[in-house]
Amino acid sequence: MYLIPWTLLSAYYSHVHYMKKLNLMICCLGLLPFAHSQISPPNRYHEQYRPQIHFSPFEKWMNDPNGLVYFEGTYHLFFQYYPDSTIWGPMHWGHAISKDLIHWKQQSIALYPDSLGYIFSGSAIVDAENTSGFGKNGMPPLVAIFTHHNPKAEKEGRNDFQNESLAYSLDNGKTWKKYARNPVLKNPGIRDFRDPKIIWYEPEKKWIMTLATMDRITFYSSPDLKHWNKESEFGKTLGAHGGVWECPDLFTLDDNGNKVWVLIVNLNPGGPNGGSATQYFLGKFDGRQFIATDTSTKWLDYGPDEYAGVNWSNTGSRKIFLGWMSNWLYANVVPTEKWRNAMTIPRELKLKRVARNSFVSSTPIKELNSLFVNPVTLQNMIVSKKIDLSERIKNIKFPCRLDFTLDSPMDFEVTLSNQIGEQTKMGYDSITNQYYCDRTKSGKTDFQHDFGIRNTCPRLSNSDTMHITMIIDVSSIEIFADGGLSVMTEIFFPHQPYTQIQIQSPNNIFIKKLKYSGLKSIW
Ligand code: FRU
Repeated sequence: MYLIPWTLLSAYYSHVHYMKKLNLMICCLGLLPFAHSQISPPNRYHEQYRPQIHFSPFEKWMNDPNGLVYFEGTYHLFFQYYPDSTIWGPMHWGHAISKDLIHWKQQSIALYPDSLGYIFSGSAIVDAENTSGFGKNGMPPLVAIFTHHNPKAEKEGRNDFQNESLAYSLDNGKTWKKYARNPVLKNPGIRDFRDPKIIWYEPEKKWIMTLATMDRITFYSSPDLKHWNKESEFGKTLGAHGGVWECPDLFTLDDNGNKVWVLIVNLNPGGPNGGSATQYFLGKFDGRQFIATDTSTKWLDYGPDEYAGVNWSNTGSRKIFLGWMSNWLYANVVPTEKWRNAMTIPRELKLKRVARNSFVSSTPIKELNSLFVNPVTLQNMIVSKKIDLSERIKNIKFPCRLDFTLDSPMDFEVTLSNQIGEQTKMGYDSITNQYYCDRTKSGKTDFQHDFGIRNTCPRLSNSDTMHITMIIDVSSIEIFADGGLSVMTEIFFPHQPYTQIQIQSPNNIFIKKLKYSGLKSIW
């Protein structure tokens, strides 16, 4: 994001400065913010391109998910938000809540910019043992740690304009109080010093902050969330470095009873299909240092449109991941009018072995099943050349989920299309052993020259059976192949909604099982 919006938008800031001040004033008077869910008309969330099963803000600009935390039966989703425009600007933390990770209610803005700067990305945790001392009457505080980005200091040419700060909530995340002694971690002079992700390290009963520091990760530890000591650095010469490292996460996954540490590092630009993407490392962590046990570059999602993804905290051993469904290459110019950008479907992460290698797989959370309508299962289908699913399944509607299994890895292609011949295609090419998604003729593509392209993703599985899951919304497709080993997320903007699904193959392919299910709108 750094290279693009920041330079392009600096002129824009002076213009919005006045608006921001006004907004802050109104907010202080208690007129803003408001809970959109309470006052919006009932027909909201149905504009052209509005995702029907993904979270998007009611209006205006959104990027990274922030402060993902589960507390007392509620999932909190905070997000990078600019309430004055549909273009990136002075960042706030927007807020939404959900009981099931599927249906969301947008809330009042949680954090506003202040004299220390904009509120950039960060995380939130439940301070169950009240190590911070912010808790009251036995009620543990929710603590958010985020980057304060000081645009004035940046303009002055300083290097220390990003610092880590803290805020806490004693009312289930409804309102937040910034700590009087912010920042809690001062910048030692590194231009990119941001996006703290906090976890509790039980063996030593201390907090660990995983921080993106330009071309590497720096780990800090703290007994109380307020005082931080540097522990170690990781990754300067490992992994992908086509751009700046951003939005990390550190957590464990189970590997047959053993713990494997996973370090997520988002990268922009330098993704496998251009622009921003999420890479990860597998290794060991001892409370001080992360050591990679496998130094190959691995991507959680190969598509162009999953970025800044991290996990919810306080969900036990279940790891639930959420990404921003866009790419800094074009996030500011995609053709939506009222709002810009959505989140991916929440995904459950697991460790999977392929021969002697391990990978992190991601699959849509099971809670999505609650949206199923009119599921249809077809069995033992031979596809020679082409079949139109709309002829076999009456009433195909989008959004929907498609699952199918082939008994051998053969070339196939699935086409989503509309009445005017616009189409997005996804498929498998056995010669290159790659999945692909082609949006060259998907509809509006001319808003950015990198958008209308064919993207690829290696097939990592060595299984003879090929299983594909597709989550298709009004303007996106998420492809989870081979149990989530090969994943691609792509957005699209057809002039008319897609209404048809076709499957074709140059060979005769045998589809053991195909399941279609409509998905009810979450709004
Ligand atoms: C990632 C990012 C973060 C930063 C935020 C600013 O998309 O660039 O590094 O904190 O967005 O909005």
